[in-house]
Amino acid sequence: MSQFTPLVFSGVQPTGNLHLGNYLGAIRKFVALQATNNCIYCVVDLHAITVPQDPKELSRSIREVTAAFLASGIDPKKHIVFNQSRVPQHAELAWIFNCIARMGWLSRMTQFKEKAGKDRENASVGLFAYPTLMAADILVYRGTHVPVGDDQKQHLELARDIAQKFNNDFSDRIAELGLGVEMAVGDTTVNGYFPLTEPIIEGSATRVMSLRDGLKKMSKSDPSDLSRINLTDDADTIAKKIRKAKTDIEPLPSEEEGLEARPEADNLVGIYAALADISRAQVIRDFGGQQFSQFKPALADLAVAKLAPIADEMRRLVGDPAHIDAVLKDGGERAGAIAEKTMGDVRDILGMLR
Ligand code: AMP
Ligand code: TRP
Repeated sequence: MSQFTPLVFSGVQPTGNLHLGNYLGAIRKFVALQATNNCIYCVVDLHAITVPQDPKELSRSIREVTAAFLASGIDPKKHIVFNQSRVPQHAELAWIFNCIARMGWLSRMTQFKEKAGKDRENASVGLFAYPTLMAADILVYRGTHVPVGDDQKQHLELARDIAQKFNNDFSDRIAELGLGVEMAVGDTTVNGYFPLTEPIIEGSATRVMSLRDGLKKMSKSDPSDLSRINLTDDADTIAKKIRKAKTDIEPLPSEEEGLEARPEADNLVGIYAALADISRAQVIRDFGGQQFSQFKPALADLAVAKLAPIADEMRRLVGDPAHIDAVLKDGGERAGAIAEKTMGDVRDILGMLR
């Protein structure tokens, strides 16, 4: 019985202002997973253009996200780092998935509803189809594990639904061509061409909140720069943003349960835990009962110690665009070879002549 080879895939959009949420929720996990897995990390430029982008700014941003990957410790020789548009098989498989996924499935996506807002008629078709391209990103490599922040959970469930429907719709054909792989689904085993991808969403920073409002996600597009710590912020800016972070007036609780209904306190404790690689409970054991005037400087020191070296290295890398471009080109070639193999199989499964 053959099995899917474990493969980690994830993507980050080149849309400016990479922040602490992107780092703790995603990039830092990408780095950790490298030790024990084959990994493919992608700068998803085709996803970025689902909303308008300035071309020069987009190029800059693709290089900046790549620099963040490398500065954080991703090894582009042992693994694969590239930008999505270099490998046209992503868009090709996305088209096929557009014909597999149902309008109803996509209509339920909360990210589309949020991003399209009230004026849905005016949203791009690409914004609506965003999750089918995301499924294609992963499945064109038959990726099995996807590290992401909590906000991507629903999209990954959709990727599983698409894989499952494709496997079902073409099950006879897949068997006839000998392209099926056995996999466990619940208590049974099924045979399919695409794996049912597992999300990796764990730890104390799967959803880092805004520093100005503990009920809002930290986001690239928040108009207030004080709401987020950018990966390019220098030490003074990081310290200032933490000093100005919104809190309530109580000291930190002495039990973890005391963080419930205190979203800003909970967020800062979660950030500390993630940066220090300890549990929230441990942070409460160390700082419980202290005032924010004591906790914030400790958090600022920790954040600066962890993030400032990354910012320095990013600045150095961005100053050498030729190196970044060479990394993306090499990654694109290696990714393209895998993707083309999958697309050959998919064309055969569908009955396309080639
Ligand atoms: P994006 O910038 O939307 O491409 O997101 C890149 C990665 O960062 C995805 O895995 C997101 O789930 C993750 N991410 C984005 N914002 C946050 C946040 N506030 N907290 C945790 N993870 C996040
Ligand atoms: N949608 C993801 C985000 O906004 C980015 C993304 C695109 C992605 N393709 C992916 C993440 C494939 C994981 C796997 O954060």
